[in-house]
Amino acid sequence: MQGDKTDRRSFLNYILGGSLLATLAAVFYPVLAYLKPPEVSEAMTSSIKVGNLEDFPPDSSKIFKFGRKPGILIHTPDGEFKAFNATCTHLSCVVQYRKDLGVIWCACHNGRFNLNGKNISGPPPRPLERFDVHIKGEEIYVSRRET
Ligand code: FES
Repeated sequence: MQGDKTDRRSFLNYILGGSLLATLAAVFYPVLAYLKPPEVSEAMTSSIKVGNLEDFPPDSSKIFKFGRKPGILIHTPDGEFKAFNATCTHLSCVVQYRKDLGVIWCACHNGRFNLNGKNISGPPPRPLERFDVHIKGEEIYVSRRET
């Protein structure tokens, strides 16, 4: 009889102890994971193929992913290819090419950049970061400028 009570008590202690440990782990693991974010190396993409010449008639554009940031390639009405970081220098919205206005435009606060990436109106405080465009055969590549 005495052995039964001891066995039952130790079984309950075992279950309660396990539950307590599981609860503590469920509470503290997310906190610790938040405090120590995973190590993610910055993807330093230096050059990327954006498309083929046939995909870009004059006065067209394309948003592409350059590493973890958006880029924009514009084939201007004059026939030049220009590429920029598509992150607006105001509050980081993604810009777009407005061929009806002939500018690079940010929809968030009506910021405007000319086709050289210079901020020309609205709140953006700086020009867009310029990328280099290389054409190899029929393929268009964009790369970061050497600093
Ligand atoms: S985020 Fe582009 S104008 Fe404000």
